[in-house]
Amino acid sequence: MLWWGYTFRVTYSVMYFEGLGVFAVRKEFLQVLERAGRLKELNGDDLAVLIGADREEGAALFSLADKMRCRYVGEDVHIRGIIEFSNYCARNCLYCGLRKDNAALPRYRMSPQEIVASACQAAGLGCRTIVLQSGEDSFYTAEILSDIIFRIKKDLDVAVTLSVGDRSREDYGIFREAGADRYLLKHETCDTQLFSALRPGTFLEGRVKRLKWLRELGYQAGSGNMVGLPGQTMETLAGDILLMQKLGVAMAGIGPFIPNKQTPLAGEPGGTLDLSLKTLAAARLALPNVHFAATTAMDTVHHRGRAKALKCGANVIMPNMTPARYRDSYLIYPCKAGLSDTPEESYAGAVKTVESVNRGISTDCGHSLVGNRS
Ligand code: 5AD
Ligand code: SF4
Repeated sequence: MLWWGYTFRVTYSVMYFEGLGVFAVRKEFLQVLERAGRLKELNGDDLAVLIGADREEGAALFSLADKMRCRYVGEDVHIRGIIEFSNYCARNCLYCGLRKDNAALPRYRMSPQEIVASACQAAGLGCRTIVLQSGEDSFYTAEILSDIIFRIKKDLDVAVTLSVGDRSREDYGIFREAGADRYLLKHETCDTQLFSALRPGTFLEGRVKRLKWLRELGYQAGSGNMVGLPGQTMETLAGDILLMQKLGVAMAGIGPFIPNKQTPLAGEPGGTLDLSLKTLAAARLALPNVHFAATTAMDTVHHRGRAKALKCGANVIMPNMTPARYRDSYLIYPCKAGLSDTPEESYAGAVKTVESVNRGISTDCGHSLVGNRS
């Protein structure tokens, strides 16, 4: 990958990367980037060096991540339509607006008919994957949810991804039998203490166990983490990537933490787009054939956030297919991008973003490229 280099200070080198351009980077950074380009295994220290990139190094990191994305998952972007069907949640995560104790949030539940109708609309617009997301809401029993999944899979030529949090192994099995293809269960942070502090009553071990169950049941499992959580370090972010590697995830969502006034973390600074993009780019180098999303949170902190993510490792975009009347109640964090859009507008916005970075839209479901295919 490296073509020539000239050391002009003790620690800096000007480097030309084939097809990438000329960058001034630290020697240590260069060594890691070169190894990443040759697909050598990266350890936690290596990943922390990449995530800690300065401006110029960041440009080199993004270029290489973009190149790897193109080589391993291609030019086309997968559009996954997300339906946020209930904002009830039994949990009290300190960072999230859907937390049980947030009495200021009006709650809603979509009926099974409404959910299936939204899925039909999303498929009609062109989505080849439907993501069903909610808080942890036991109102939707395994029976109710599996019936919804079955109806969507019967009528539409789509993949179904579930994102409904912690459930029993038995429930996961029932959803899978009903036709669910994928399951998103973000580990949020690999720091065990931080995990339990931010998600009272839960343990990282439990998440990891569930992600293993999901894989055993034949799901394409997805995880991911937030960037900029209080108490998080570069090493934690590097650990997040290593954990996803260990879990063999097929897909992941990495995005900035955005403080929400209606939560105990209201006064925290929150994550930046820059650090989120570096984490995403480093993750692409460590997990070359995983599907990475350009997340809504990235668009919320910067109006071109998703477009930028597509240029440094992401190959998935998830327009919101929730009916407009429910959207402002799915307020995980404030000022969520696209809050007043209809599903048609969200879909068109996603297409525009993809076109703005000169990429095509995938016509297939975008199943896992990591193995564990369904
Ligand atoms: N900022 C950014 N992302 C958040 N999430 C929850 N709260 C926030 C926040 N304040 C993300 C978590 C969760 C998903 C539903 O939303 O990663 O998995
Ligand atoms: Fe509920 Fe998920 Fe929000 Fe936690 S992050 S409060 S589990 S919706």
